[in-house]
Amino acid sequence: MEHLGTIFEMGKAICAPLQSLKKNEDILDKRIEELSCRESDVRAKLEREKLQYGKMPKSEVELWLKNVQNIKDKVHDIKQKLGEVSWTHIWLRMNLAKEVEKKIKEAVELKENGQFQEGLVVDLLVGSTETFPPIKIVGETTALKNLQKIEECLMDDEVGKIGVYGMGGVGKTTIMTHIHNKFMKAGTFNSVIWVTVSKESDLKELQDRLSKALSEDLSNYKDALCKSAKLFEAFNRRGKFLLILDDMWSTFPLTRVGVPEPNQENKCKIVWTTRSKKVCRGMCSQRTIKVDALTKDESWTLFKEKLGTDFVLSPEIEPIAKDVVEECDGLPLGIITVGAAMRGVDDIRIWRNALEDLKNSRPDLEGLEDDVFSCLRFSFDHLKTQIHRDCFLYCALYPEDDQIECDSLIEKWMADGFFDEIEDREKGFDKGYTVINDLKDACMLEKGELGDFNRSFVRMHDLLRDLAIAITRKSRQFVVEVSSNVGKFPRDENLMDDVIRVSLIHSSNIELLSCQSKCPKLCTLLLNGSGLGNIDHLFFEHMQNLRVLDLSDTDITCLPQSLSNLVNLHALLLRNCEYLTMVPSLVQLRELRVLDLTGTAIEIFARWNGQFNQS
Ligand SMILES: Nc1ncnc2c1ncn2[C@@H]1O[C@H](COP(=O)(O)OP(=O)(O)OP(=O)(O)O)[C@@H](O)[C@H]1O
Ligand SMILES: [Mg+2]
Repeated sequence: MEHLGTIFEMGKAICAPLQSLKKNEDILDKRIEELSCRESDVRAKLEREKLQYGKMPKSEVELWLKNVQNIKDKVHDIKQKLGEVSWTHIWLRMNLAKEVEKKIKEAVELKENGQFQEGLVVDLLVGSTETFPPIKIVGETTALKNLQKIEECLMDDEVGKIGVYGMGGVGKTTIMTHIHNKFMKAGTFNSVIWVTVSKESDLKELQDRLSKALSEDLSNYKDALCKSAKLFEAFNRRGKFLLILDDMWSTFPLTRVGVPEPNQENKCKIVWTTRSKKVCRGMCSQRTIKVDALTKDESWTLFKEKLGTDFVLSPEIEPIAKDVVEECDGLPLGIITVGAAMRGVDDIRIWRNALEDLKNSRPDLEGLEDDVFSCLRFSFDHLKTQIHRDCFLYCALYPEDDQIECDSLIEKWMADGFFDEIEDREKGFDKGYTVINDLKDACMLEKGELGDFNRSFVRMHDLLRDLAIAITRKSRQFVVEVSSNVGKFPRDENLMDDVIRVSLIHSSNIELLSCQSKCPKLCTLLLNGSGLGNIDHLFFEHMQNLRVLDLSDTDITCLPQSLSNLVNLHALLLRNCEYLTMVPSLVQLRELRVLDLTGTAIEIFARWNGQFNQS
């Protein structure tokens, strides 16, 4: 009897899972439902982080999601089997019942582990999170077709190197920004890297730009070969990459630069854009795609978009407007600047006059012959006021493709006396931003990146910069030698008589000579980012008109006494001159409004404090 009791107890214990099976099945359903809710919360958060900030899930989050899927699949199997196995297969059902108990515990644990207090995501590789502001592409049969062709090449395993060429301003960069944004979102490549190459780039410059895009510090490597090895390794670490080299002017052997050759194994792709078919050939492009000018109809559509979609042209004006568009020869940059210049004009006489101007418009500037420059010249001449034209020309002092910070640009405009009639500094900034907006509206400046703390930037299209430089060169008012090997400056003192602005930004090997013949009109001298170490002690002797002096990011250790002669100086910018320990007396500089000493080694400033007009 005793034995029977024991056997009964054992049987009861063994069958216990079976007895509570129904109840446990319900509990399991509930736990899985709770787990699924957590899973969808996690997925929604991930999606938002990816779309808004381009961030990727942490590996532990990916593993968790995989485990959630596994348990859901297994629970589905168990339930299916429970439905199939008959009541007579007690052992089988018992095992399944045990599984149900196990899965309840696992589901609870998984849900707990899905809290991820320290966040769900990691940053993507630096440089690959930003997309470009989208520009709506016009051109069903030209631009959009080319976009499609490039996309097809990028999906074709046989093609690794693609060359895109076409005239200046025809839309190569615009098409590539779309490709960049699209492939960044698609995740086809582990990394999408954009590098603007530009006219002045040599091998060193290109390697530096690539290192910046890859966030690799090459400052300790002086030798091009070592740099290429380091870049090569950085590229390989990224796995399958898409590299876009925009605006190439000469050929570079990829291996010398440090870029791995695309092949069927690494599945990497490189696309370059250039104005020259020769560059495509020289780079051994496997496919070459020509970007053609827009057709008549497409040009008209783009022009009308620039005029404003709600702007209706009268039947008398429309044919004249069509002739105006024809003068632009299908070049988008010409079309959008001329379109912007004619926005809001509803007087037929002004349209007729514009057509005449355009027909007769020759850039009439050395080195500029293309038709596109006639349109750009027209747009420049039609800017609202002389201040707008001056502000536009000023931007050419910055290097090609530079992101120009609006605040510091306006600061210089103010110091240079562009808005002299405005007393209040805040109002000066308001005026500056208004001019920038007008120039953007006129398509003469482009929107740049948005920096930290909402700092805004603008860019100047390389063709518009060429135009600005040619205009200022003709009047002999600007000397622009940015990012170049300058040597002695000024080379010819006699040529300095009419010069009002000099920019040697990012240039090297500068030896500033004392200007005995004076620079009577010089207002702006920008030497920031140049390799300047010394300034001749008499250099500022005859520059009484100088208003803006930017020596930021140079290696200067002291400033010459002749600085005191700059009685008209409004802005002295010495930001990040880390070796600068001493500044001579500034008492004479009664007009000084802006003095930037951030990042210098100057400690005692109190002595000067209060002795000049500090803004
Ligand atoms: N298909 C298009 N539809 C609408 N706008 C366009 C199109 N193509 C170009 N644009 C506009 O024209 C401007 C000039 O185009 P883009 O900079 O792409 O020319 P590019 O061929 O790269 O010139 P460059 O050889 O000087 O680098 C752009 O700022 C863009 O706004
Ligand atoms: Mg371009």
